[in-house]
Amino acid sequence: MKKISIISSSVRIGRKSHRVALFFKKYLEENNLAEVEILDLAKYNFPLFEERLKYQKTPGTSVVDFAGKVKSSDGIIIITPEYNGGYPASLKNITDLLYDEWYHKPIAISTVSESNFGGAQVITSLQFLFWKMKALTVPAMFPVPNVIDSFDENGNPTGASFPEKRLANFINELLWCIEAKSRMENNVKQE
Ligand SMILES: Cc1cc2nc3c(=O)[nH]c(=O)nc-3n(C[C@H](O)[C@H](O)[C@H](O)COP(=O)(O)O)c2cc1C
Repeated sequence: MKKISIISSSVRIGRKSHRVALFFKKYLEENNLAEVEILDLAKYNFPLFEERLKYQKTPGTSVVDFAGKVKSSDGIIIITPEYNGGYPASLKNITDLLYDEWYHKPIAISTVSESNFGGAQVITSLQFLFWKMKALTVPAMFPVPNVIDSFDENGNPTGASFPEKRLANFINELLWCIEAKSRMENNVKQE
């Protein structure tokens, strides 16, 4: 089974977007779509970026652990809040820390906000960031507006209606990208 890591980006006290990370984990596992681990940036609690991991002489064990998990994941879902129209510093912190680990990594981005707009303003800057890292970001989006009314603390949907179709499309695009990459790598190995 493919391995998908969910990067939960908010390190804010009382954060709400983590609910969406819990939701995706449950959804993927219950539907037998992937083995899932949440990489919780609040738990990692990385110091502010000083140098890329590959140039660090004595990297901390948690940084090495995180890099290994990103590298060994077949795909990644990033859950990001929108802060003042951008992504949180915690996310930029770990993006710059790694380099090779992002190369050709299938990535899907879910943006989250308390407002009606679902973090719509953060998606382009984050797509651009991962394009610069040469990752394979999928075009499908999963914006979560009104997060407090949409998911409870355990990641269960609570809204009056749920965007089933958008969710299926979001996950299918990521799985397609994972499969395409895997087939390409297997073909290359056979030559
Ligand atoms: C510093 C800061 C800036 C924010 N800026 C925006 C914003 O630009 N647009 C928006 O819709 N919500 C904004 N919010 C509210 C977030 O959407 C809200 O906190 C949401 O729950 C996601 O972030 P969280 O996981 O940290 O809770 C902001 C919140 C903070 C703490």
